[in-house]
Amino acid sequence: MSRLPKGILITFEGIDGSGKSTIAKRAAARLRNDYDVSLTTEPTLGWIGDVVRKSIASDVDPLAELFLFVADHAEHITKVVKPALDEGKIVISDRYSDSRYAYQGATLANRFEDSIDWVKKIHAGWTIPPDLTFLLLVSPRVALSRCNTRKKTTKFEDIEFMKKVQSNFLKLADEFPKRIVKIDAEKDLHTMEEEVMGKIREYIRARI
Ligand code: TYD
Repeated sequence: MSRLPKGILITFEGIDGSGKSTIAKRAAARLRNDYDVSLTTEPTLGWIGDVVRKSIASDVDPLAELFLFVADHAEHITKVVKPALDEGKIVISDRYSDSRYAYQGATLANRFEDSIDWVKKIHAGWTIPPDLTFLLLVSPRVALSRCNTRKKTTKFEDIEFMKKVQSNFLKLADEFPKRIVKIDAEKDLHTMEEEVMGKIREYIRARI
């Protein structure tokens, strides 16, 4: 088992149905052969995460919903992400702060002039920015058809909304070209997995 001098935070992002959870799990399993890995998720599996899931299933005010997601993020950082990074682990998070910037940037678009920036500012000074982010890109039409074949659907699985979220994710990728790696998620899983693993290994080599 190789020890890293400092932990690494890797996040997976994308619209619903992009396949990010599958790739995050596969990457974590592969990295476990060599490193201490903590695989985690937002919304979290704790009680604040349960409240977030309740809010997703309701027509709650979008600003109230944002603060629930943000509360969940704060708890996630304090209880899971920071301790794991302090122990030198590789932390893999299936969704993280960029989901808030992209999704709540979309739900709050008519409340604030620059909603993405407004949501970002709420995180300033306390969030831990990811070292590396994979943005899985799939056309909203393909993503929606994938969502419809599984049982669980949410209010966010609407084609027009997904287009807005994807466009917000792409704006973030333009803003942070070094951190955010775009992956063509219409390719087969094996190809995507190899691409992701290659980038992670390249990043680790450059870090140590
Ligand atoms: P998730 O459980 O990752 O769903 P999926 O596996 O379908 O991608 O996330 C639940 C929903 O919550 C999903 O539609 C994305 C949304 N979401 C936000 O709107 N903001 C956030 O900050 C996060 C973490 C998720």
